[in-house]
Amino acid sequence: MILFDKQLNVFHLSNDQISYLIQIEEGGNVAHLYFGKKIAHYSGGYRYPRLDRSFSPNPPDSSDRLFSLDTLMLEFPGNGFGDFREAAYAIRQSDGSRVSHFVFSDYQIQQGKPALAGLPQTHGADDGIETLILSLKDDVAGLELQLFYTIFEDAAVIVRSSKVINHGNQPVTIEQLASQALDFPNRPFDLIHLPGAWAKERQVTREPINRGIKRLDCKRGSSSHQQNPFAVLLEPNATEFTGECFGFSLLYSGNHETIIEKDPYHQTRVIMGINSHQFAWQLPPTESFQAPEAVIAYSETGLNQLSATYHDFYDEHLIRGKYKKQERPILINNWEATYFDFNEEKLDALVDEAKELGIELFVLDDGWFGQREDDQTSLGDWFENEGKLASGLAGFAQKVHDKGLQFGLWLEPEMVSGDSELNRQHPDWLLQVPNRKPALSRSQYVLDFSRQDVRDHLYQQLTQLFDTVAIDYIKWDMNRSLSDVYSLLLDPAQQGEVAHRYLLGLYEFLEKLTTAYPTILFEGCSGGGGRFDAGFLYYMPQIWTSDNTDAIARLKIQYGTSLVYPPSTMGAHVSAIPNHQTQRTTDLAIRGNAAMSGLLGYELDLTQLTAEEKAQIKEQITFYKKHRRLLQLGRFARLLSPYEGNDAAWLYVSPDKKEAIVFYFRVLAEASAPLVTLKLAGLDPDLTYQSGGESFGGDELMQLGLYIDPHLAGDYATQRFHFVAKAPHE
Ligand code: GLA
Repeated sequence: MILFDKQLNVFHLSNDQISYLIQIEEGGNVAHLYFGKKIAHYSGGYRYPRLDRSFSPNPPDSSDRLFSLDTLMLEFPGNGFGDFREAAYAIRQSDGSRVSHFVFSDYQIQQGKPALAGLPQTHGADDGIETLILSLKDDVAGLELQLFYTIFEDAAVIVRSSKVINHGNQPVTIEQLASQALDFPNRPFDLIHLPGAWAKERQVTREPINRGIKRLDCKRGSSSHQQNPFAVLLEPNATEFTGECFGFSLLYSGNHETIIEKDPYHQTRVIMGINSHQFAWQLPPTESFQAPEAVIAYSETGLNQLSATYHDFYDEHLIRGKYKKQERPILINNWEATYFDFNEEKLDALVDEAKELGIELFVLDDGWFGQREDDQTSLGDWFENEGKLASGLAGFAQKVHDKGLQFGLWLEPEMVSGDSELNRQHPDWLLQVPNRKPALSRSQYVLDFSRQDVRDHLYQQLTQLFDTVAIDYIKWDMNRSLSDVYSLLLDPAQQGEVAHRYLLGLYEFLEKLTTAYPTILFEGCSGGGGRFDAGFLYYMPQIWTSDNTDAIARLKIQYGTSLVYPPSTMGAHVSAIPNHQTQRTTDLAIRGNAAMSGLLGYELDLTQLTAEEKAQIKEQITFYKKHRRLLQLGRFARLLSPYEGNDAAWLYVSPDKKEAIVFYFRVLAEASAPLVTLKLAGLDPDLTYQSGGESFGGDELMQLGLYIDPHLAGDYATQRFHFVAKAPHE
């Protein structure tokens, strides 16, 4: 899959779907030639033209004025050496200079993929994977830059990362080290990205890329509701089904930046990595710094294909452990049912109803620990709130098991309340600046997870809990952004490392905990989907998509999330009406269909339901259980966008294409409404499918489509279709 042509000085990474071409240019400068659809007959004729561009400097060892790093397409653009575009790294050396010039020194091609110590990473069997490691050197600075490119046999992706090694005898400061940089030749592009807010995560935003610099940025210490670490460059006329798309997804759960620059000659550069804002990593001699991975993906046929590539790749090569590609349980969570106001009697009633309806897992949310009766207290005190549950936590968990349900628990281990035993004993364990009061948010502080003593204490508390209570599932929450980012244990010169060290500490903790308890299903959460990123999915195979459980709001949230993250990762619950976040009232049917579009759960007081509602929920659960594999792991495609009109639709197709489930959602009712036809996708054109007693050709469903029922009544209406292919003899 990886070839080096010594004549042309070109590396060619390719599989059946993609090619990636790198050329070692004049003076050892590492140029980028191409990323996109597979080129089967690359002959070497394509080379960056020689041209004298005024005000574009030439490297000192360059033979003429026709060669400049200011215009060349580069693999990993640098700083202060004649490229005035955005850089992929900045390293301050002991003499104060930030000028560096890395030139090609060596390369290795390896079967498989080297492990990335302490960071989330994609993985797979060695025989389907190859890695190119380019080694670049700056001898003046005494530094080596390694660029990693991994290609998988079965995916239209390249996994990239970078590493700096200090071979000199002076420390240097890394002020920026991107995971990847990618240059594109002159061509028009649109940008899609996923900004948002609490209860409004991952809103699809599309805009043309014009001259100048666009920065997608997060400085909150977690990957955030406000800007997901994901972006797409696509042809301006590309759609869900047509046009070239290039995806960029970062495996990192902290501060991140994606910088897009269209240069004077209309070449576009995309840089993605840890946010360089206030980042400064001291690198002593002999040490190295590894940047997280970025997964860049290619689709020739629109956004759905790009999403399918990410879904398959993350389901197969990112998620690990017992729950990889396994069906997930249907849960009931007591949060919106009771908030903090619960006792054993109330929970018993919920559990009994849940059991009756066919729910499989009971999750006890916030309020079971310390003195916690509201959100002002007790984070950090991970022992039970004595007396709140008559049978005690372990007794209650046992009771839930005895009733035939699994038992799950909510935790927020990275946080501490001012009013907590932990904070009284260890007031120095928070992120805080000496002589300043740290900012509060939701009445809580952030624990300094870069500290080993903090992690050891929490590990001991959590393992004691896990060893004494029969726990099948953990909801791992994080309800504020990081402020006062300063660690009392680090030198003043190292304070620019704290945000990243926090993440490294957290990742180490999660690795240890999830390895020690391999049967527990972990669900990530951060005030809903405030830390929904590919880095977190390495430790937790599913994430609570949003605190917004309103079915209509969820259409846009889940649509945006699905651009990169698979349905198998998206927690989605049916909740009460009026909805607690939007006050909207919708039918159970649309709440069910929206929640069945991800990992189905319920989050409402089941004891308040009418017999009719219970019957409807039973039907939803029966249907979901029957088709769970298809809905969680089938081929997902978006058909109608809630961002473009009054409705949304998507479908799931089984791997053998013999079965499909389609959900249609209409937002508002309209008089004299135009008819809606829905064209399906991903079916076998030659098969005949049946649904509702009628037969349809696969090509018919994809080319003609089907009419949505024009008699659908009222606002917030929905339709669900189930297609099954006829056996050939039928
Ligand atoms: C966060 C979560 C909610 C719930 C509350 C509990 O907001 O996203 O689902 O667990 O915390 O305090």
